[in-house]
Amino acid sequence: MTSAEVDLYQAILARRSVRRYERTPLEPEELAQVRAVIAGVRPLITENRYHVLLRDLPAASDLTAALGAYGRIANPPHVLVPYLLGDRHPLVDLGFRTEQIAVRLTALGLGSCFIGCLGREAQVRARFGLPPSTHVAALLVFGRPSGATAARAVNALVRELTGATRKLPAHRVFFDGDFSRPAAPPPDLAPLIEAARHAPSAVDAQPWRFLWRDGVLHLFVRRRNPRYGPGRSQSYRLHDGGVCMGNVALALEALGRHGSWIVYEDDEADLLEHPESLAPLAHLELERQ
Ligand SMILES: Cc1cc2nc3c(=O)[nH]c(=O)nc-3n(C[C@H](O)[C@H](O)[C@H](O)COP(=O)(O)O)c2cc1C
Repeated sequence: MTSAEVDLYQAILARRSVRRYERTPLEPEELAQVRAVIAGVRPLITENRYHVLLRDLPAASDLTAALGAYGRIANPPHVLVPYLLGDRHPLVDLGFRTEQIAVRLTALGLGSCFIGCLGREAQVRARFGLPPSTHVAALLVFGRPSGATAARAVNALVRELTGATRKLPAHRVFFDGDFSRPAAPPPDLAPLIEAARHAPSAVDAQPWRFLWRDGVLHLFVRRRNPRYGPGRSQSYRLHDGGVCMGNVALALEALGRHGSWIVYEDDEADLLEHPESLAPLAHLELERQ
């Protein structure tokens, strides 16, 4: 791996939600880098149109409170508002694309945090002037993490941010052959599963489960995730499944491998034998190494 590739893979694993920011806005050159990251995002469903607004946040604004989201996020100087036009798997695609931005911001030494807005879409569209037909699922606040040095190197961030992680271990989310019992992933898949399980998810619900069968990696999400809460919030499983797929796509890039995610349409997914509690979301077509 080149050092840029190492940085990308490290950034996937090192990224944590940052909830305290330096108040100072980023420099114009830094914002230009953020815009370049946005411009480089790869699609999941090519016919969907993905756009991202970049807005400064006034000093006293408390976006999390204003949007009724959980947690307290102190002083983020900027926010991204990703939205999508198109009706094929919009939530999965939003998660897939916005996670690429989140990881690449980490690689630039910047902190970020998603703020989920499912159930509050109308409020978000009104606040940011988006047309009613747009899909929104989460905003991404970003800036310089409070107390961070100016160092851009990912390694510095890794040191600052390391700590116990509550992420489910690979051997709890990965199944080999069938769903009878979880297993450790084989060596060539292990770095992809490692990237996947580090994905962020609303209230850290981690809905993803993987089935490796006949050389294909299938992604499932738990149908019911009590942590998400009732009603519309249950649909975070689709967004967060997409986030997890975004991490795998970035890991493939970092490892110099090729593959693409194909999202299941309803009828074909039923061909896979699986527990009722899981819903098939997508499978990964990996090119042989
Ligand atoms: C769709 C989505 C919505 C989220 N919404 C919020 C939020 O409203 N407030 C918050 O503090 N964190 C929010 N988060 C951050 C999660 O709590 C965080 O990703 C999870 O706890 C895992 O921690 P980590 O990102 O540090 O790995 C959200 C994350 C995602 C993916």
